[in-house]
Formats: sequence, C-alpha cells, structure tokens
Amino acid sequence: MMADTIIHHIKTLYTSKKKPPVKGLTMKKIEAIEDAFIVIKDGLIFHVGSGSYHEFLNENTILIDAKGKIMLPSFIDSHTHLVHGGSREDEYGKIIQGIPYLDILKAGGGIHHTVTHTINSSFDELYHKAYHSLDLMLQFGISVVEAKSGYGLTLDTEMKQLEVTKKLDDDHFIELHSTYMGAHAIPKRYSNDKDGYVNEVISDLKKIKESHLATAVDIFCEDHVFSVEDSKKILSEAKKLGFKIKMHADEIKSLGGTSLAVDLGCSSVDHLMVISDQDILKLSNSNTIANLLPGTSFYLNKAFAPGRKMIDQGVAVSISTDYNPGSCPTENLLLVMQIAANKMKLRPEEVLTAVTINAAYHLGISQTHGSIEVGKNANVILIDAPNLNYMFYHYGINHVTDLWIKGKHVLKNQMIVRD
Ligand code: NIG
Ligand code: FE
Repeated sequence: MMADTIIHHIKTLYTSKKKPPVKGLTMKKIEAIEDAFIVIKDGLIFHVGSGSYHEFLNENTILIDAKGKIMLPSFIDSHTHLVHGGSREDEYGKIIQGIPYLDILKAGGGIHHTVTHTINSSFDELYHKAYHSLDLMLQFGISVVEAKSGYGLTLDTEMKQLEVTKKLDDDHFIELHSTYMGAHAIPKRYSNDKDGYVNEVISDLKKIKESHLATAVDIFCEDHVFSVEDSKKILSEAKKLGFKIKMHADEIKSLGGTSLAVDLGCSSVDHLMVISDQDILKLSNSNTIANLLPGTSFYLNKAFAPGRKMIDQGVAVSISTDYNPGSCPTENLLLVMQIAANKMKLRPEEVLTAVTINAAYHLGISQTHGSIEVGKNANVILIDAPNLNYMFYHYGINHVTDLWIKGKHVLKNQMIVRD
C-alpha cells in the first residue's frame, strides 16, 4: 500500500461514527482517538489509527506533522443564500431599532432590495462576490456548501444564479449543492396575484429540472409570504419531478410548516424559531432534519430555536449559517456553532454532529461525507486548540489552520493554496 498522505501527531481526533440521521442524545456520542494519525489514499480515508503509522509510509508519502492540534471532519454549511448581488447595510439601523424583518419586506425592501441588485448584476459580478465568500468559508473549515437561488423571482435571473453556482462548483475547492428557491418572496409584478406567481413557479420547476442546475427545491413558508397551502402545491410538484424538498418554516410566525414538511418527507425543515411542541414531537418521529440557523436569531434579535428541547426529545438537528445579505450576513459557521452552543445550550459534541454527519445526511451525501471513517472522502481539518470544548469556549476566533478536501491540502496554516 502506498499512502499518498499521512497526518500524524494529532492530539485528539473527534468524529461521530453514528448512522445518520443521528437523533436526540445520540448526537452527543462522539469518538475521540488520542495520539491519532490518518492515512489518505486516492483522496479517501484509507486508515485511522493511533500510535505508530510507519507501516503505511513509503518514500512518496507526504508526511504531515499536526503538531498536537486536534482533527475534526470538515464542516458542512447546509443552508446558504450564497449567490446574490449587493448588500443591505442600509437596513442595519432598522434591524437594531427592532423594526420587524417582515415589515421591511412588506414595504418593498428586504429580499426585494437584493432581487433588484441580483437582476442588475452581471454573471461575473455575482460569480466574483460569491467566490470571495467561498474563500472565507474555506478558511472556516467548510468543504461543502448548499446554495439557494431565490433573488431573481423570474426564470431568467433564477437560472443566472444557478449557473453561477454551477461554475463555482466547477472552479472552487468547495463542493456546492444547488437549490432552486423561486418561492422566496412574491415578486412585485404579482403583488396582487400571489396564486399567479405560485403557478409560475410550478411551471418553471420543469425547466429547472431539465437544466440539471438544482437538485433540491425550497420555499419561504411564512405569514404574508407563502402559505402552508402554497408550500404544499409547490413542494408536491417538486417531489413528483424528483427534487429533494425542504422548507423555511416556523421562522417568525408558527403556521404549521414543520408538520407539512414531515408529511411531505422533506429532507430538512429550516429555522424553527417558533416551532410548536406538537411539531417537535412529530419531527422526532421522522427522518426530516431540523436545520437550525442561530446566526439569524442573533442578527435579527429574535428568539433562538428550541434546540436543546428538540435534542432532548429525540429530533435530529443540523446547524447552518443561513448566510444571506438580509438576515444573517456572515460566512462564519464557526461563530454560528459557538452561538448555537451558548444560546441554544447544545454540547460541543452535539454541535459537531450537527455540522458534519447530520448536515451530510440531509444533503444526501452521508455515504461519502460527514465523518472520519475509512472509505469516505478525506475531508478533514486541523484545529489549533487543545480539545473540542476549547474551540467553543474561546469564541469569535478562527481556530481552523488546515483543511484537506478529497485528500488535497487546500488550506495550509490559514493560507489558501492555489495551483
Ligand atoms: O433564511 N427567510 C427567508 N430568507 C432568508 C433571508 C433572505 C434575505 O433577507 O435576503 C432567511 O432568513
Ligand atoms: Fe435561509
């Protein structure tokens, strides 16, 4: 056996080895291997061990001394609105004053503002802005990102966003999973005819499917945006066409979106800041992942989703940034993980499971991603911290120094390596 790379002198290697969806208190069960090493071959994990690695070594092996850092599976950001034009710092004052997010949207700002900028941005402008965000994400140890459209609200501009995502997936080290979200807001041209827009989205679904530019469909199920009934129509059609389906639900007003998500078999249901107890129970009896976005609660000064309660009651949770220009303008998943631990009272081990194997599961890639196990992609990070708790405790700091994606050392000592 010729090892391509061996990373040794790892103080502790932490990974979940549970079969996903990892539910409830099982999320806390993490393996910790002391004085660990990993052997990488052809981009995959060939061996994970402790102590002597010499039997795997030959003259061509790249030998990396982790210098006593800790190793984790790289992180997965499974909910972002990556590709968009412009920024919304003009709304920041309103957010701080407590003017409700939905009032800003109703007044024609919010998502509509970003729609105008996305329509007016060229392909290259969108591409370069998002490429820069991906570089930032890479530096926070992220190797996989889900990216939604939803700032076009016309087939043309939605397709432009999806095409930009496709090119980014081709060009950047980060692996992208693309979601069509035409049902993100009701476009101004349909302000008196919401049903007209719902029908337009339904008819566009086929064209999106034929383009192969998205594998999933999402919808913003919210008061004054899309109702549970609208969500049912659009997502049922999407499911029929073979898309994975997911929902933004129970974010501001509790409408019953979570219950619909479970009934339809959504892979994830996202936000859940105002989920009912009854729907927590329903989620815990399903394989739908609760994708929590505490960075959004933090930025909008809203309640946090009841993550602790959900896990205590057996729900499978993942955590993402929701990176977008209006409700969570940050690419920093590590900070969001720290907020999740502090504000939702999750254990560091639970947060790790949330951003690795459970995120991989609802993206449909848990066979190859989300844990450090033999045969999976060698997607791993080194953290300059003495233990997992420290990474959460010393917050607001980027502890990630190195990242390998499919065995390629793409972040070395916090520097991106391009060739
Ligand atoms: O997940 N809630 C709807 N969509 C995004 C925000 C989009 C925006 O404000 O631009 C979210 O929070
Ligand atoms: Fe979102």
